[in-house]
Amino acid sequence: MGGMKAAILFQSLSGNTRRAGELIAANLQQEGWGITTVAPMKQLEMSAIQSADMVIIGTWVHGLFVVGQAPWGIGAINHLPALRGKLAATYCTFALNPGTTLDKLDSAVSGLGAEVIGGLALHRSKLHAHAEEFAARLVANVPARA
Ligand SMILES: Cc1cc2nc3c(=O)[nH]c(=O)nc-3n(C[C@H](O)[C@H](O)[C@H](O)COP(=O)(O)O)c2cc1C
Repeated sequence: MGGMKAAILFQSLSGNTRRAGELIAANLQQEGWGITTVAPMKQLEMSAIQSADMVIIGTWVHGLFVVGQAPWGIGAINHLPALRGKLAATYCTFALNPGTTLDKLDSAVSGLGAEVIGGLALHRSKLHAHAEEFAARLVANVPARA
């Protein structure tokens, strides 16, 4: 579906999750979507969020690599403004094994009132391919609207 507008908010320590957000944005733009912002979560741009139909939230996997994996900065995600009435999607970047990071991310974003339509864990060494796949899935899964 064309004409969708998405805001991409990320947390990134060493740049992978930022890069992933930029790649996701570029892929969505190729599909005809508008991007209102690609910005760190801490630099909240309310107008960019308000004018978006979909908010895409990304962070990186933090843990002990095979156990204890969780989304980094879940507190910041829980404290985002309410996203009622918006679609949302989540992503994380990881090195070895994301564990249940995506599930935790999805429940946090659902808790903001958004309708989460999907999520993807992107391996940090395959950001291009995985960002393309994520964007294609989002475009295919946006519910048709009246
Ligand atoms: C302290 C720390 C803990 C990490 N724990 C995990 C982990 O448990 N599982 C995993 O797959 N990757 C883990 N990683 C790797 C990061 O998730 C991965 O490098 C990610 O792409 C970093 O994103 P960024 O460049 O946006 O900061 C960890 C990285 C750091 C710095």
